[in-house]
Amino acid sequence: MSISPESIIIALDYPSISDAMKLLQQLEGYPVWVKVGMELFYGDGPGIVYAAKERGFRIFLDLKLHDIPNTVEKAMKVLCKLPIDMVNVHAAGGSEMMKRASGAVKSSLSSPSLLAVTQLTSTTTEQMNVEQRIPGNIQESILTYSRLAQESGCDGVVCSPHEVPIVKDSLGKSFLTVTPGIRPSSEDYWDQKRVTTPLEAIKLGTNYMVIGRPITGAMAPRTALEDLLKGSL
Ligand code: C5P
Repeated sequence: MSISPESIIIALDYPSISDAMKLLQQLEGYPVWVKVGMELFYGDGPGIVYAAKERGFRIFLDLKLHDIPNTVEKAMKVLCKLPIDMVNVHAAGGSEMMKRASGAVKSSLSSPSLLAVTQLTSTTTEQMNVEQRIPGNIQESILTYSRLAQESGCDGVVCSPHEVPIVKDSLGKSFLTVTPGIRPSSEDYWDQKRVTTPLEAIKLGTNYMVIGRPITGAMAPRTALEDLLKGSL
């Protein structure tokens, strides 16, 4: 079974544009997405967004906004002036914050998809119960946040592949799921906790899988991507 490159989002988790550009060169010719996160955006500014767009990549700007509704709305208006295709907030910021973010996104020229982060893929049920003081299991929390996100105008959620079936069953097939926590069976989990292999993520019905270190940390990232697309990573 092969995997479509259009369902792959590669995390450009680097401190500088020059590091990220080296990876983009390796990925050229494949219609994969790239994800610009906090390290690169805070470290080197929005230049990478323009550079990746010029090279034909679609862009997920992963800054996970979480603040009072007014601040998130204004920040989102500024971010949506960039040529981005996907952007996100934390669902824990609440319905009013997500509605204001959604308003800003929908009235922008770039009009990216808006996602809400539910529970991070590095969070376990135990951590959620003890540290966040949210009772129950993690799936219940993810479903609650996903419902709130849909009602508040988001186009989808970020969750682990394990939660895709319950999100899709409850909220419909067209509600997007973007899933980090992708690990080849042979590899270390690093800080991720709720993980699957790439093929399992596809079988569970995810729309997009986010993958970082298994590609960016590989000796030969292009070969690792080719293995991923063949379903053999
Ligand atoms: O290297 P790795 O494959 O773990 O990278 C996953 C990427 O997805 C990181 O950039 C991380 O910030 C991001 N992410 C995540 N879990 C979420 C949301 C985003 O791991 N819930």
